[in-house]
Amino acid sequence: MSSLSPPAHKIWWKEPIERVEIMWIGICIVWGLLMTFMMPYWHVVGKQNLSNEAYRITPAYFQKKAQEVVDKHTVRVETDQKIPVVAPPVGSDVYLVARLWEWWPILELKKDQSYRLHISSMDWQHGFSLQPANINAQIMPGYDMVITVTPNKAGTYSVVCNEFCGIGHHKMVGKIYVKE
Ligand code: CUA
Repeated sequence: MSSLSPPAHKIWWKEPIERVEIMWIGICIVWGLLMTFMMPYWHVVGKQNLSNEAYRITPAYFQKKAQEVVDKHTVRVETDQKIPVVAPPVGSDVYLVARLWEWWPILELKKDQSYRLHISSMDWQHGFSLQPANINAQIMPGYDMVITVTPNKAGTYSVVCNEFCGIGHHKMVGKIYVKE
């Protein structure tokens, strides 16, 4: 029998299950249950799963909020594209826009201070991946992902997109500075 010819026995679905099939179904159920348990477990003991909040939002509203912060707190511009570097006040709401194909603006945060970091997409799905800290979040249009961040190490961090988003995906790299 192949997938191109009809099955020889018309009631093929009534044939007894083979032992090896039962074994594989059993393995899948046990593995599935284990992974279901690991989801909350990793959230508590792991370091990668964030306790983020998410709210419904429109891309236009998010863009407006981001622009307000950029207009108020830009300290300089960087690269040929003149990307604003924003140094927001400690404890404030900070906005990071994901769009084809950039993270905008560049952020400059202070070490050991907390900020409310809002991230959303203007078009379709992107993946926020902070390197080398390896912190990850799914970024969707229409949702404001809010992460309370307290950077504990000074340095220059890269934000890479880890969700394939088209021809410029590999160039979608942003930056976050953490200053002493
Ligand atoms: Cu954005 Cu890949």
